[in-house]
Amino acid sequence: MRRFFFSLLLVLLAGALVWALSPAEEAKRQRQLFLEQSGGAHPGELFVAEGEEYYTSLEGAGGKTMADCDFGKGPGVLEGAYAELPKYFADSDRVEDLDTRVVTCLTQVLGLGEDEFDRDMVVSLVSYIASFSHEMPIQVTLDDPQEKEMFQIGERLWYWRAGQMDMSCAACHDRYPGRRVRLAPIRNPEQGLSDHWPAYTFSFDKMYTLENRINFCYDSIQIPHPEFYSTPHIALSLYMRYRANGNELDVPGFTR
Ligand code: HEC
Repeated sequence: MRRFFFSLLLVLLAGALVWALSPAEEAKRQRQLFLEQSGGAHPGELFVAEGEEYYTSLEGAGGKTMADCDFGKGPGVLEGAYAELPKYFADSDRVEDLDTRVVTCLTQVLGLGEDEFDRDMVVSLVSYIASFSHEMPIQVTLDDPQEKEMFQIGERLWYWRAGQMDMSCAACHDRYPGRRVRLAPIRNPEQGLSDHWPAYTFSFDKMYTLENRINFCYDSIQIPHPEFYSTPHIALSLYMRYRANGNELDVPGFTR
């Protein structure tokens, strides 16, 4: 009987060890399981397809289309554009992430009013455009002075302790990489934090972008999250992505 309990203990310990050592493997396994159950279809592709529909059908004043928008590689070029964002754009004279750049395209190039598009549409367009950078390495640069300034804002926000819990992004992501919070593995930017966003999030059956993901983390530490398309979002994305340079994008991602 004692031997039985001893063996059981060993098995449990070994299991716990595997569990603790390979959070990334565990996430992969969960994803595999879900894909098998859904017949192999990645639900994120539905949002990508929706984004493509918007991308090809939207028309603005004077016959402008989304192909007239420059996402960093020249008008109409989507291949690899997301891998280099956020970056400085001369036409808007500011640093933009993909969410913001899509809104700039809709409002400035197509001339749409704020009431002529919504967040879901932006998310689908982001998913479609990002999908052209799937499996490409993140390559964010700080060549422009505005990019450097944005990086510094991002860095300050990253270490800024606030809220009732006196927490910062760094307090979790830099101090505890490899640990878990409610089964979710924590990563630091060098390990590729942000590399699988936009992602299909199956517990909500929704597609979310990196801006949504940043908001979730603010919510989790009870700090009011920044508005979409605002400087804190762009700054944090630029900061994380710069540190994550070289990691391959897996987009659309698939997560819990
Ligand atoms: C309380 C700890 C904690 C704090 C503080 C925190 N996060 Fe997170 N964050 C997590 C956990 C846990 C996950 C993983 C969730 C998941 O994958 O389901 C995560 C996931 C993320 C992700 C996406 C996961 C990935 O691998 O791509 C990003 C990006 C992120 N956090 C950014 C931030 C930013 C920016 C801040 C500061 C505003 C922040 N986090 C603060 C715990 C935290």
